[in-house]
Amino acid sequence: MTASLSARHLPPTPFLAVDAAIVERNLTGMADSAAARGLSLRPHAKTHKVVELAQRQIGLGAVGLTVATLGEAEVFAVSGVKDIFIAYPLWADEGKGARLRALTENITLTVGIDTEEGARQLAATTAGAPVGVLVEVDSGHHRSGIAPADAGVLARAAADAGLDVRGVFTFPGHGYGPGNRGSAAEDEAQALAVAVESLAAAGLAAAVVSGGSTPTAAAADASVLTEVRPGVYLFNDAQQLEMGTCGWDDIALWAVATAVSRSGQHVILDSGSKTLGADRLAWATGGGRLPDHPDARITALSEHHATVEFPAGAALPGLGELVRVVPNHVCAAVNLADELVVMVDGAVADTWRVAARGRNS
Ligand SMILES: Cc1ncc(COP(=O)(O)O)c(C=O)c1O
Repeated sequence: MTASLSARHLPPTPFLAVDAAIVERNLTGMADSAAARGLSLRPHAKTHKVVELAQRQIGLGAVGLTVATLGEAEVFAVSGVKDIFIAYPLWADEGKGARLRALTENITLTVGIDTEEGARQLAATTAGAPVGVLVEVDSGHHRSGIAPADAGVLARAAADAGLDVRGVFTFPGHGYGPGNRGSAAEDEAQALAVAVESLAAAGLAAAVVSGGSTPTAAAADASVLTEVRPGVYLFNDAQQLEMGTCGWDDIALWAVATAVSRSGQHVILDSGSKTLGADRLAWATGGGRLPDHPDARITALSEHHATVEFPAGAALPGLGELVRVVPNHVCAAVNLADELVVMVDGAVADTWRVAARGRNS
């Protein structure tokens, strides 16, 4: 690939490039895998934030999209997506309540809840509009979400406040770690099963039982879940590679950087944290990975510098040479870019606007 990266016809570095064929393969693979197990697929669009990709996901059979924010929901609703789940316990003040009500005029809208106060607030500011809710339960990630056995009490309070309780969801984010995927998927199924029972005890049916995440999607228990919400899978990233969720050939997005300085076995690339994002989980081997130099490590990232150490004796990129860099966490990198450069057979074919970029509120 390095050989085919010539500066001609390319935008100035650093920029984010996407291999269209690999994206398509990843999209199709997840769609087929979910369908084969009878699971609905509701991809998390915060990963790509691109309208063309959302439309392709829906075209391949996704039942709708997951988003993290109201702003993201608005972007995708305008683009024609008809069913959106805001998988976040948002606080619906008057302003957000009005925007949620407006969304329900055009789409089927579902919002996460995990407190009675949040549910009552949502009911009050969206009164009269068909806002559905899923109760979020904690399956081991210990972020938002209540204890699964308490889901029924919250669901009952939400229903009594006038909300349409559609089911339960969880995010098994503790699956992010080498060797954690299988046990996190088991935790996910167990937590959701308890939550479904808890709703039943409160006299409420859970039509939607939604789990998620790219690392756990392949192990999602279809005897409990009705739906999965992976996001990263269409691009993959260095985290997925280092966890073993994907191989090098499954990575569809990378930054294209220029080698701007070198000394000994140490090279500086112009893709710093303002290009790659700064995420670095404790077990990550560095600040990203270089597909054409798999033994090199990004030992430090500052805003505009990636410091890369090459093993003794390894051939280094020359000054001015273009180098591909896979970000640790692709969602963070995409959120920093105005557009993605689409490559077909190693040549620039198109650009996709990161339309929902920065829509954090
Ligand atoms: C609530 C929720 N659902 C689904 C996902 C998608 O999981 P992944 O990023 O592993 O693809 C995320 C990611 O952060 C999430 O927070």
